[in-house]
Amino acid sequence: MNQLKKTINVGMLGLGTVGTGVAKVLTANAHSIAQKVGAPVILKKVLVRNPDKPRQVDLGDAVTTDLEAILGDPDIDIVVEVMGGEQPAKDYVIRALTAGKHVVTANKDVLAKYGRDLFSAAAEKSVDLLFEASVGGGIPIIRPLKQCLAGNKIREVMGIVNGTTNYMLTRMTNDKMDYAAVLAEAQQKGYAEADPTADVGGFDAARKIAILASIAFGTRVTLDDVSVEGITGITTQDIEYAGELGYVIKLLAIASESDRGVDVRVHPAFIPKSHPLAAVQDVFNAIFVKGDAVGETMFYGRGAGEMPTASAVVADIIDVARDIQHGVASRILCTCFDNKPLCPIDKTESPYYIRLLVEDKPGVLAAIAGAFGAQQVSLNSVIQKRKVDNLAEIVLITYRVSGANMRLALGTLGGMPTVNKISSVIRVVAAE
Ligand code: NAP
Ligand code: HSE
Repeated sequence: MNQLKKTINVGMLGLGTVGTGVAKVLTANAHSIAQKVGAPVILKKVLVRNPDKPRQVDLGDAVTTDLEAILGDPDIDIVVEVMGGEQPAKDYVIRALTAGKHVVTANKDVLAKYGRDLFSAAAEKSVDLLFEASVGGGIPIIRPLKQCLAGNKIREVMGIVNGTTNYMLTRMTNDKMDYAAVLAEAQQKGYAEADPTADVGGFDAARKIAILASIAFGTRVTLDDVSVEGITGITTQDIEYAGELGYVIKLLAIASESDRGVDVRVHPAFIPKSHPLAAVQDVFNAIFVKGDAVGETMFYGRGAGEMPTASAVVADIIDVARDIQHGVASRILCTCFDNKPLCPIDKTESPYYIRLLVEDKPGVLAAIAGAFGAQQVSLNSVIQKRKVDNLAEIVLITYRVSGANMRLALGTLGGMPTVNKISSVIRVVAAE
């Protein structure tokens, strides 16, 4: 029988939003956590940049600016990295693993780019590396994919994994606010950063779907492998037309596998109002997973924030602590056993919504239909909407078409003198 430790000591890197939540949860739930682990879990040292900053939690002498006080302390069992950013977080995590510490991290930036390096370092030292909070904040999704759904062949992972953009699209849909006004509001509420590029540009979601795709399909997917389009081009006009056609617009992170390869992308999409993801409002996140055995499942909750994110981090700490008490570690490290090809964006397939401004005269619609037809793009519906400065606004929904054929058809359309403007091109998630 393994000798139980009398305490499990944690060294934390960072005491910002998430770190503060972790400290609060470890204190508030200390008794039940100790019962679950078989020993108290103690926050022994916490690394910060500025020791003079006022803090919401009083950790006394535990606060330090000396990394070695954590990495060099043989009594610290688990290092929790909640600093964020790529560097020096990546180096600190590698150094912690190399020093034989188990690591819990919430850092999607590092995982989506350097996951392989981190897992190699953890395997080298036979230590745990857990990262539940890196995707979906408080929503359990990493552990479900790695453990609860491990018996499945995963068909598709499709999620709303960025709260800021979901809040913005919700306000644009429900309250008809325009993009600029709703972005300003999201910044004022503290959802969007002063530089909102990572959220509105889709890169935050791209990091998260790279992590999920790697697990779901057992092959390493990095940020650079994800095709990314954000919500900056979405207008209230498109949202209104989506509603009339029975859809809502959501920023979706999608990963699927077919004989064309592993397809990983982030883009706004029309999603049927009847789809479970269509009902996900405000800053909430949800991840919809299809497995061959389980069928459809959905994981829903708060994708960010102090306490929800701390919930996931503390669960990982407890998991590691239980491993320590049982004398086991690194049971589930890297699960990228394969090296699968990626599906090039030209080979991806989807129906599309297209909004055009065209000259309002006989033969124009037929010419447009012809341009699509020449590239094997079949039209599902064509609706003439309003007049804009003597031009006709046309809304088309296509059947499923490859990215390449759509690109060629749009190229032809863009060169037609009767087509004044291609206002919007948005993928449609087909109702099953
Ligand atoms: P944050 O509020 O900016 O806090 C960062 C903390 O790290 C601060 O305490 C800061 O110290 C410390 N820090 C940063 N660089 C440092 C350095 N070079 N040396 C020492 N300390 C350093 O960040 P956060 O929002 O808590 O996010 C932490 C991580 O969790 C990120 O990876 C993020 O992506 C992830 N995450 C966050 C959320 C969320 O809702 N916030 C949700 C899911 C995942 P000072 O306090 O002294 O400045
Ligand atoms: N910026 C992210 C969001 C939260 O808006 O969902 C951290 O992952």
